Amino acid sequence: MLTDKIQSLLGEVADLQAADAKALEELRIKYLSKKGVINGLMGEFRDVAPESKREIGMKLNELKTALQDKLNELREGLATKEDDHSDLDLTRTPYPIAMGTRHPLSIVKNEIIDIFSRLGFSIADGPEVEDDWHVFSSLNFPEDHPARDMQDTFFVEQHPDIVLRTHTSSVQSRVMENSKPPIRVLCPGRVYRNEAISARAHCFFHQVEGLYIDKDVSFTDLKQVLLTFAREMFGPDTKIRLRPSYFPFTEPSAEMDISCNICGGKGCAFCKQTGWVEILGCGMVDPNVLEANGIDSKVYKGYAFGMGVERITNLKYQVKDLRLFSENDVRFLDEFTAAN
Ligand code: DAH
Repeated sequence: MLTDKIQSLLGEVADLQAADAKALEELRIKYLSKKGVINGLMGEFRDVAPESKREIGMKLNELKTALQDKLNELREGLATKEDDHSDLDLTRTPYPIAMGTRHPLSIVKNEIIDIFSRLGFSIADGPEVEDDWHVFSSLNFPEDHPARDMQDTFFVEQHPDIVLRTHTSSVQSRVMENSKPPIRVLCPGRVYRNEAISARAHCFFHQVEGLYIDKDVSFTDLKQVLLTFAREMFGPDTKIRLRPSYFPFTEPSAEMDISCNICGGKGCAFCKQTGWVEILGCGMVDPNVLEANGIDSKVYKGYAFGMGVERITNLKYQVKDLRLFSENDVRFLDEFTAAN
């Protein structure tokens, strides 16, 4: 009898289970597809006597709705199962990730930039392949100055006027020709010199140049800025000492020493027992340089300084061999992970 079949199917529907999406789909096909159980019953329903049609039709609808509800219920159950992450342990230590490190020269360069940024300096950049004008002539180098000698400078073949810059002072000149005072810039960059490679010399290294031009700039301003820099970089007890020197582009010129930060000024092998180590060159911008770069030297004055990043890094971290900086030995670079 059709009624009995429907009745027993209603019981069956209540107990349906589906372990996964595949099983659920099989149930749908079995009961609700074209050739499924429900459509089979519909076929039988056509032969039902007219007086029973209403009652059995209602039963049949009840079965169909129950089936659809059941399958929906099973589908929802499966979806929440997929979202269930209760077996995930979020407290577990992650897999160790090998972290890269910043290069020691970058660490120190960034620190230098940081200190001078706080003093109001912005950053300027210039080309490493430069012309003679920006590297030498505009900076008041006399024609026969030894720094122009083939020994020191890399020339670009067949272009006697094009060189690899030997110092970042070349950027001074580029900044002056492109902007009006007041100028307060820091120029970090790589420089090249034709030197035999050893523990103490390399054919390329890094410098940071500083330039300040305004109406009332004095040597005292320069000294104060450099003292602030030395103390920020090497600690509050650091002393500075300025010794008269010569650079074509500054007048007067000086070299600055700091109290040896390795022995605290008492004297050690690093400072050759003197208690002092040289860290930079500086001076008041020579009026010839201002004029050569289009700045009126009667109105404006300036100071400049230049330091080697390798030198500062050696002082901070006691790197004994310059070659380590360019060999990319991971064992060396790894030592700076903590300084990042
Ligand atoms: N350019 C110099 C060098 O390479 C360093 C230097 C000295 C830069 C004195 C300056 C300065 O700006 O005033 O040795």
